[in-house]
Amino acid sequence: MPEDTEYIAPNFVARLQNQKIIDKDVKGNKWLWEGRSGDYRYDGFGNPNYFFRGTKDRNPIISDSPELSAAEESYREILEQLINSSSSDRPVVALDIGGMAGITWCRLANHFRKEVEAGKVVFVVTNVESNFEDQFAKNVDRDTLHEGDLELFRKTKSEGLVKYITADVMSLRKTTIEIQGKSIRLLGNVDLLNERTAVTAHSRIPEIHIPRMLETLSDKGIYVCWDNTISLQFGDDYAEDRNIAFFDAINYSMDYFKLERISEIEEGIQKGEEVKPIILRKSGGPKIKAD
Ligand SMILES: C[S@@+](CC[C@H](N)C(=O)[O-])C[C@H]1O[C@@H](n2cnc3c(N)ncnc32)[C@H](O)[C@@H]1O
Repeated sequence: MPEDTEYIAPNFVARLQNQKIIDKDVKGNKWLWEGRSGDYRYDGFGNPNYFFRGTKDRNPIISDSPELSAAEESYREILEQLINSSSSDRPVVALDIGGMAGITWCRLANHFRKEVEAGKVVFVVTNVESNFEDQFAKNVDRDTLHEGDLELFRKTKSEGLVKYITADVMSLRKTTIEIQGKSIRLLGNVDLLNERTAVTAHSRIPEIHIPRMLETLSDKGIYVCWDNTISLQFGDDYAEDRNIAFFDAINYSMDYFKLERISEIEEGIQKGEEVKPIILRKSGGPKIKAD
């Protein structure tokens, strides 16, 4: 957590109060998010038209296929590198923070079914609210799951291939997961950390939340954030201050946790192209590939 006031953006106290109200409402299940699928198949690491809520860029392809595509292929590459290079006695941990249904995590868990069953990799989705399944039912025309995706979600969840846990960003450091009789804490053990319209987009106090999120990364960890400054402006009076706080927190965390920012695709057909999400990586972490 930043101790230097240089890292505290304007209106911190007002934003903190705002955050407390939001936390109460979210935990009390009073919020209904627009994006609830956790489906990142429209996002491509090098794709300029990657899905971004609130723009016209979303390609409205209806796809129920459990096959991987676009960014999911890049996640597959990342996970293969992590699994193949692992010398640890714990599984590789892939965490989608604020992932709601975590459809992309379901597709990946199905793809890596053998490795999941062998305890080599674990897929975890967090949500603050415990009733996220009700959210699909409550407002069917906003971001429903397609029939095939819903089926995939139910099946993957019931088989335990994806672990759904209730946690907010502040409680991650105290959170453990149980795998084949072993207890693994998230703090310092997350190898792939993904977020879209979750902590970054909604935090009123990024100077506290971002370091709390990034401290979960392992020594080979990689963080992928699909949000940018625009998303921070959703329905909030302090958008500018939050932007300042967010980028301060990213810079502070890069220094403190020794993370490098990846700005170009490193391998594959799109090598050399700009990466669209914010990607931060520990040294020795997996490379970014996009075809
Ligand atoms: C709009 S949904 C995003 C779902 C999914 N990532 C997607 O893009 O389809 C927002 C998510 O952010 C999570 N979230 C909001 N505030 C959070 C916080 N302070 N800590 C952790 N998660 C948070 C919520 O629990 C919810 O899962």
